[in-house]
Amino acid sequence: MAMKRVAASAFNALTTSANSPVLTRCLHASPGPKKIVGVFYKAKEYAALNPNFVGCLEGALGIREWLESKGHQYIVTDDKEGPNCELEKHIPDLHVLITTPFHPAYVTADRIKRAKNLQLLLTAGIGSDHVDLKAAAAAGLTVAEVTGSNVVSVAEDELMRILILVRNFVPGYQQVIHGDWNVAAIAYRAYDLEGKTVGTVGAGRIGKLLLQRLKPFNCHLLYHDRIKMDPELESQIGAKYEEDLDKMLPKCDIVVINMPLTEKTKGLFNKELIAKMKKGVLIVNNARGAIMDTQAVVDGCSSGHIAGYSGDVWNPQPCPKDHPWRYMPNHAMTPHISGTTIDGQLRYAAGVKDMLDRYFKGEDFPPQHYIVKEGELAPQYR
Ligand SMILES: NC(=O)c1ccc[n+]([C@@H]2O[C@H](COP(=O)([O-])OP(=O)(O)OC[C@H]3O[C@@H](n4cnc5c(N)ncnc54)[C@H](O)[C@@H]3O)[C@@H](O)[C@H]2O)c1
Repeated sequence: MAMKRVAASAFNALTTSANSPVLTRCLHASPGPKKIVGVFYKAKEYAALNPNFVGCLEGALGIREWLESKGHQYIVTDDKEGPNCELEKHIPDLHVLITTPFHPAYVTADRIKRAKNLQLLLTAGIGSDHVDLKAAAAAGLTVAEVTGSNVVSVAEDELMRILILVRNFVPGYQQVIHGDWNVAAIAYRAYDLEGKTVGTVGAGRIGKLLLQRLKPFNCHLLYHDRIKMDPELESQIGAKYEEDLDKMLPKCDIVVINMPLTEKTKGLFNKELIAKMKKGVLIVNNARGAIMDTQAVVDGCSSGHIAGYSGDVWNPQPCPKDHPWRYMPNHAMTPHISGTTIDGQLRYAAGVKDMLDRYFKGEDFPPQHYIVKEGELAPQYR
């Protein structure tokens, strides 16, 4: 703790200017109008199709009028990469940066160093791995997300992906599009979900909701996590705790990843770990692309060791045209969509508004929303 504080003040001494003292960053709400920048995906012709489509650049979380009526400046952009992008123009003087995992503004140590007025980084959604959290902590920034906002959206999507892979749905759909009819090409590896062993790696909010949704399918349910559930919840959900991931993986027909991207989980699913899984395993990953070793997934899908891989998260995002996961066999990938349903958007927009309101008033956020507070990372990110 003491060491961290020393490191934080050393970093601040190096990175703050005379007119932007350390305290400016640490104080939760300094008075006066703020410059707030939002980075969101552009919806173009789709923006006007639904008044509740608030998660896009055009919708701007539905908070423009409110912010401007309070005298704050609110700039939104989707242009977030490279030295000449729109976001870069605002780095030197923004106070608050809001971004979303669906179109993340990567907040590097270098950006933090140059953002002398920055106090607050808000994630419209869940997962703040697009921020260099250690640099944010050292600079005295607050990082917060809307914990719980889209967990139902993601759990439902995972259930769909499991079924899509188990039933070998995608090749059947493609046959129809391409004017083909070949039942055998689908049926030789389409199964029922009933009786299969499903393991979730991470059983926090999303993992638990998925397990609850899987229960009526009469599967064998396993989970691995840092923390064991309390026995009552565990028996209600009907899942068995596996303390050792290496021992759980060989038992699973289907593995679902539901842990955050942290220093410990980055690249966790490498060649060696994938080799421990059953031949023919199906993997669903809506957590973060970088939890997987990209090439190990490609190799696993190409050899057939992984019989199907589905998810909506990539590294980086948006993923380039030549990203190998676009072209590997047996995948059912989509752009990052699972947590940005209209219902999810309304919830995380309301959560962002609530946190901004508290920030202006100098009030604390709900404790579960903090990822970085007063130089400390939330426990699972340490
Ligand atoms: N695709 C999407 O649209 C979308 C939307 C929301 C969240 N997510 C991702 O899903 C992740 C999980 O979300 P959540 O709401 O369930 O979070 P959560 O914090 O409720 O649960 C995460 C679980 O992972 C466990 N965990 C963390 N590190 C671990 C480790 N090293 N080993 C074992 N277990 C570990 C934690 O103990 C916790 O139970 C988020 O961090 C985010 O990256 C994706």
